[in-house]
Amino acid sequence: MRKQIAAANWKMNLSQSEADTLLNELLQTDHSLAAHQEAIFAVPAIYIHQATSTLAGKQNVFVAAQNCHQKSNGAYTGEISAPMFASVGVKHIVLGHSERREYFAESDALLAEKVNAVLAIDSTPIFCCGEPLEIREAGTQNSFVEAQLKNSLFHLSAEQIIKVVIAYEPIWAIGTGKTASSEQAQEIHAYIRSVFATKYGQSIADQISILYGGSVKAANAKELFSQPDVDGGLVGGASLIASEFAAIINALK
Ligand code: 13P
Repeated sequence: MRKQIAAANWKMNLSQSEADTLLNELLQTDHSLAAHQEAIFAVPAIYIHQATSTLAGKQNVFVAAQNCHQKSNGAYTGEISAPMFASVGVKHIVLGHSERREYFAESDALLAEKVNAVLAIDSTPIFCCGEPLEIREAGTQNSFVEAQLKNSLFHLSAEQIIKVVIAYEPIWAIGTGKTASSEQAQEIHAYIRSVFATKYGQSIADQISILYGGSVKAANAKELFSQPDVDGGLVGGASLIASEFAAIINALK
């Protein structure tokens, strides 16, 4: 069975003490991870060290970065590179979140470079894709997402693509409380898998975890994750509440 993943994206939230409280509350909740399941915490970079030590020794639990620079080092004031994250034990880096595409003008071509940078340090890119509302209303979401995948990932070999986790996050569902229905999620996740199957073959496509993101919460996680091509979630707001995120972990199949 391919990996089932509950990934928290804290975005730019929480003070250091709030982050500490949240992780310690979470450790006290009743949650469990089977061998094929993972919980990943994409915390602000400044809290990676703290989160890693708080979660040390927890099986199948990882601390992730929310972004990285495409170059490995150099005169890029304020930036953090993939090898720097690797040097502090980070094994997963979120790339191409719609907020980064929108507010930081990240293009498909730039994201292809970032994907290469993350794979070069043997880490997992959690590659985000997803359409804005007007594309969904026009009914062209499949081709929109397909272009994002092709432009940033199709240069990869089969061995490389199976290391990538996909997060489908429709922009109209992010932070809006408006979740895609489980049918809508399943339909586009199956389409995404078919795009990989066409390029890399069905057995490679079947190994790629595809997470859903956009207003996932305890109340809808089980229904979403029960869909055959939904392999977990990338969770914003609800990941900031320990009991909610614990329930989301427990909703993994
Ligand atoms: P919300 O769960 O707050 O809608 O955010 C989703 C998201 O953007 C996760 O990356």
